[in-house]
Amino acid sequence: MVNLEKKINVVILAAGKGTRMVSTKPKVLHQLAGKPLLKHVIDCAKLLNPAKIIVIHGYGGEEVQENFKDEKIVWVEQKEQLGTGHAVLQAKPYLDNGAKCLILLGDVPLINLKECNELIKQHCDLSILTVIRNDPSGYGRIIRDISGNVLEIVEQKDASPEHIKIKEVNTGIMALEVDKLSYWIDKITNHNAQNEYYLTDLVKLAVNEGCKVGILITEEEYSVEGINSQNDLAKLERIYQEMFANKLMQSGVKIYDPSRIDVRGNLVASSDVEIDVGCIFIGNVTLENNVKIGPYCVIKDATIGNATIIEAYTHIDGVKIGNHCKVGPFARLRPGTQLNESCHIGNFVEVKNSQVDSSTNINHLSYIGDSTIGKNVNIGAGTITCNYDGAKKHRTIIEDNVFVGSDSQLVAPVKIKAGATIGAGSTITKDVEPDELAISRSKQITITGWKRPKK
Ligand code: UD1
Ligand code: MG
Repeated sequence: MVNLEKKINVVILAAGKGTRMVSTKPKVLHQLAGKPLLKHVIDCAKLLNPAKIIVIHGYGGEEVQENFKDEKIVWVEQKEQLGTGHAVLQAKPYLDNGAKCLILLGDVPLINLKECNELIKQHCDLSILTVIRNDPSGYGRIIRDISGNVLEIVEQKDASPEHIKIKEVNTGIMALEVDKLSYWIDKITNHNAQNEYYLTDLVKLAVNEGCKVGILITEEEYSVEGINSQNDLAKLERIYQEMFANKLMQSGVKIYDPSRIDVRGNLVASSDVEIDVGCIFIGNVTLENNVKIGPYCVIKDATIGNATIIEAYTHIDGVKIGNHCKVGPFARLRPGTQLNESCHIGNFVEVKNSQVDSSTNINHLSYIGDSTIGKNVNIGAGTITCNYDGAKKHRTIIEDNVFVGSDSQLVAPVKIKAGATIGAGSTITKDVEPDELAISRSKQITITGWKRPKK
């Protein structure tokens, strides 16, 4: 069968400054769920497999482009922001004849694929996405005749008292034939209350020519919510987070309070995972069966194995943790760290770029950096691997069954071989042979009859 599906061109309007954000950052770079607003829209557009994604940029254009260096995007500048119609006009030379054009807004981040698809697939010359709002103020109103056919969109500032009452509003998102768009877009004027070129005037132009205008009313108000202020952004962030939490709960994850979790990236959690309040998940995080995350943990780019427990206030970044481990409270695991199963990492322990084999304990107040640690090792409280000589980093190797006494410094590069013991309070600068005891502190002396000085 011949594929009759049309090519798709997506045009994303992103030239506005976003004055009401009160920020020097271009509006579309503000983040929702850890991702710039515009990135949400681009990611949705990409799922449509379009021939082209054209982004109209204006304010802070260079900074915006810099953030999307790795995306295949046609960037088109709109030097002056003369209205949405003028913005789309800038894209005209880049559109593919015969294609269907979908227009999205860079500040409507949660637009969903299903609606875009439905809009594109409508057999109409022009299809617009609308929504019914309890409070329609500020939006373009959808004007229909008594049979329900769309006649035009009237902007708030141009609306009559009758029109003002209409609750069906334009979301700003529409789909139309490129050939029609290219023809109509030149006819838009700025003869209106705001002296702007309104994209919405396309509707009137289409109707006047007897063309078919289709409407899709979305039920999902959040998906067409635009961001104009920090308040809008915070509100939509919460909506997104609660939706994500609901999805997790439906898949069997226990979330102590769905209004107190933040996922800024992708969190994959298996059943019987428990997440206490105030946790933030960043990047790609995988929690396997029965993992328990205590309150106020920050977990970024990590995989955490079955039945592992992460206690309160633990920070994890770029780490792979095996099954049945216990980490925290107040632990910090940094990039390049890997824990095999049944390890314990306790309070005020920092581990960086180190591999720790199974059943090893580092329970209190330690810094372990650039180290390879074997099985069944006990690292005593206050142990420091001195990995940095001021110029270079060096590795510490600790083999299986080593016991490091408390308050020891291991000056890298150094190797503590299997079964060796380090006496507490030692500074170790030379390799220690298997099963030997190394101790470097001076001998204790006792001065009898010594008197403590008096004030
Ligand atoms: C627009 C619609 C309105 C709709 C509303 C939905 C028009 C005339 N009105 O109004 O019917 O209800 O969106 O939110 O289209 N932009 C540019 N260049 C410009 C002007 C705008 O790129 O010259 C971009 C903005 O950055 C923004 C989007 O287009 O992403 C919408 O612009 P905005 O000024 O918010 O339009 P509204 O007045 O809200
Ligand atoms: Mg707007």
